[in-house]
Amino acid sequence: MRLLVCGGAGFIGSNFVRIRVRDHGDEVTVLDKLTYAGRRENLHDLESEIGFVLGAIEDPAAVARALADAGCCDAIVNFAAETHVDRSISGPAAFLVTNMQGTHVLLEAAREHGLRYLQVSTDEVYGSIEEGSFSERSPLQPSSPYSATKTGADLLVSSYFHTYGLATLICRGSNNYGPYQYPEKLIPLMILNALAGDHLPVYGDGRQVRNWLFVEDFARGIGHVLEHGQPGEVYNCGGPDECENIEVVRRIVELTGADPAQVEFVTDRPGHDRRYSLSSQKLQALGWEARCRFDDGLERTVTWYRENAWWWEPIRSGEYRDYYERHYGRALKA
Ligand code: NAD
Ligand code: DAU
Repeated sequence: MRLLVCGGAGFIGSNFVRIRVRDHGDEVTVLDKLTYAGRRENLHDLESEIGFVLGAIEDPAAVARALADAGCCDAIVNFAAETHVDRSISGPAAFLVTNMQGTHVLLEAAREHGLRYLQVSTDEVYGSIEEGSFSERSPLQPSSPYSATKTGADLLVSSYFHTYGLATLICRGSNNYGPYQYPEKLIPLMILNALAGDHLPVYGDGRQVRNWLFVEDFARGIGHVLEHGQPGEVYNCGGPDECENIEVVRRIVELTGADPAQVEFVTDRPGHDRRYSLSSQKLQALGWEARCRFDDGLERTVTWYRENAWWWEPIRSGEYRDYYERHYGRALKA
């Protein structure tokens, strides 16, 4: 396939591009604004094999440039988003622009060129669930500015199917982890802090549950929906294992050989969702299955961060240090 991948320089987008180019021989152009979370380093081994356009999805001229670079492409796959819940609480404005306005610009471009359109979405649109799992028919009850803007985008995508007959697909993933994840997120933050001897800041009582999905499994799931999904449909893509945050942190302490005394309970996130859980039966019926269990994936992830200091050292010494100090009220060590 020929694809325009928006947000392809981020964590999941870059893993998706790697799999599509290497395993499927797809031709890919990436459109990315390179915010703090997007980095050319994430695509370092693919530079000569893909097209890259620097620009924002909310900018119609940048989207037109990217589509011209992609030639007559088959589909737009949209990963581009502001993605960190904590940043959406301290500064929601950018989330509205990228996640909602940007999605609108991409939908218009897809409509103009008659392209298939896949929106990468999240389990957070369903809100929190005490027991059981969300299906695609569960009500949408987002609770943070991040998840509210992702929900708004999903509804807009569906409206383009119903109103204009655009061939849209939505794939909702659970919590991803793995190589190239920006260290503001729980797992890479805890791995790097554990290795550096920093504190390990667990929000609230640490008993919140997340449904962990190895990033390569999500990337394959998105590709599967793109190839085999029914236009107008939503597909959940959940991980095989659930785990409380405190247990995730304990396993990271063990895998890194850190001192358990580094663990520190800190003020909870406002409006913190207690538990996420997705049923992926619909996508499984289409032929996708998660391959990586959490124990293996976490070990692989710790190993990747240990072996790729070239990737994270510039992050920990740049903007991220200021963000960390602002958010956690203390400086990182080295
Ligand atoms: P990320 O923050 O690592 O990367 C986001 C990418 O989008 C970056 O490359 C950034 O530069 C780019 N970007 C941001 N604003 C842009 C704009 N206005 N125009 C163009 N590019 C822009 O995010 P991620 O964790 O890889 O998430 C990718 C997608 O998957 C998002 O849509 C997110 O909502 C969704 N998702 C993430 C998870 C998860 O656990 N990380 C789970 C389910 C779904
Ligand atoms: O569920 C999918 C979502 O997963 C994606 O849509 C989001 O883009 C992605 O950021 C992620 O959201 P979460 O809020 O679940 O992920 P985060 O890594 O920020 O936090 C995971 C859990 O860990 C959550 O319960 C909050 C907790 N946490 C997080 C951080 C950063 C801590 O206890 N301490 C921390 O320092």
